[in-house]
Amino acid sequence: MKALVLAGGKGTRLRPITHTSAKQLIPIANKPILFYGLEAIARSGIKEVGIVVGDTAPEIQQVVGDGSQLGLKITYIPQNAPLGLAHAVKISKDFIGKDIFLMYLGDNLLKEGVSALVEEFKAKKPNSQILVAKVPNPQQFGVVEMDGNDRAVRLVEKPKQPKSDLALVGVYLFDSNIFKAVNEIKPSARGELEITDAIQWLLDHGFQVICKRVGGWWKDTGRLEDLLEANRLLLENIEGRVASEEQLDSRSKLEGRVILEEGAQILHSTIRGPAIIGKNTRVYRSYIGPYSSIYHDVSIEESEIEHSIVLEYARIKNVKSISDSLIGQRVEVMKSASAPAAYRLMLGDSSRVEIP
Ligand code: G1P
Repeated sequence: MKALVLAGGKGTRLRPITHTSAKQLIPIANKPILFYGLEAIARSGIKEVGIVVGDTAPEIQQVVGDGSQLGLKITYIPQNAPLGLAHAVKISKDFIGKDIFLMYLGDNLLKEGVSALVEEFKAKKPNSQILVAKVPNPQQFGVVEMDGNDRAVRLVEKPKQPKSDLALVGVYLFDSNIFKAVNEIKPSARGELEITDAIQWLLDHGFQVICKRVGGWWKDTGRLEDLLEANRLLLENIEGRVASEEQLDSRSKLEGRVILEEGAQILHSTIRGPAIIGKNTRVYRSYIGPYSSIYHDVSIEESEIEHSIVLEYARIKNVKSISDSLIGQRVEVMKSASAPAAYRLMLGDSSRVEIP
């Protein structure tokens, strides 16, 4: 059995962060999203993984490498244009061969991993197994209509008027019949070959598709709100850990569950967990509140921040009350020392600033 991980796509809903970096590499609780999926795949016993990559291929290859650190053997499969999830399957035919496979969208997070799903698929041997989850905004997903016996009867990609509130989770299992389906379907209105349509094709042609409801939580991290929620869910489960007592001076306080990674320095500050402070990050005369993930080599001085994700090499100085924010790599946010007391901004394309 193999796995196909999809890590292409443009991440338009997470601009400007995704102008310069792949959405699958945004860290949540200080670990790139993609690793949660790859680790779950490794735990399920699958060893051979194909990662479909687009424009951000070099960056993904640099971070993930050949997979040996995870006990995986990774093959990169370039997708020259983002022509859809079913197109990604199509171009992976040589890699998959005749095997059954798990397909995992690289920006999805599943609390319970994939091991139980993989076991069930191997035992029951249907042609496909899909996973659904109840969501408040089904029009933003593939939507599944089920009959009274929990059998999928109709799948529609991002319907304007959804007939159910069950979203198609980005974790699918297939046998090689899916290759027939992806060759038969036509591009959707958004010009993509939809995996949702390919699964509908399987249903229409009498193939067996098992539909399961997700246990635990599931998040598609396509938007800022979802990233922050995923961050919250993951921090909810951390155990506090401090690499060395010397990381904290006598005027600092850790409350609740806080992880201080190696070389993080907390001076005259309070950190209220759950929170994680990355390697070589320095926090001085500041307050870091619950549900904050501060990545490595960040500097936070005389500031207050909570419920936020801060990426590497960012600098925050003299700013009170940052909340619900995603602050990108090397971003500087600081209070201005000179008059006039105005907002001075240098923001990248598609940036978003909310001012009280
Ligand atoms: C994709 C699929 C959609 C599915 C979703 C799950 O949407 O097209 O059917 O429900 O992933 O994450 P996208 O996030 O690419 O818009």
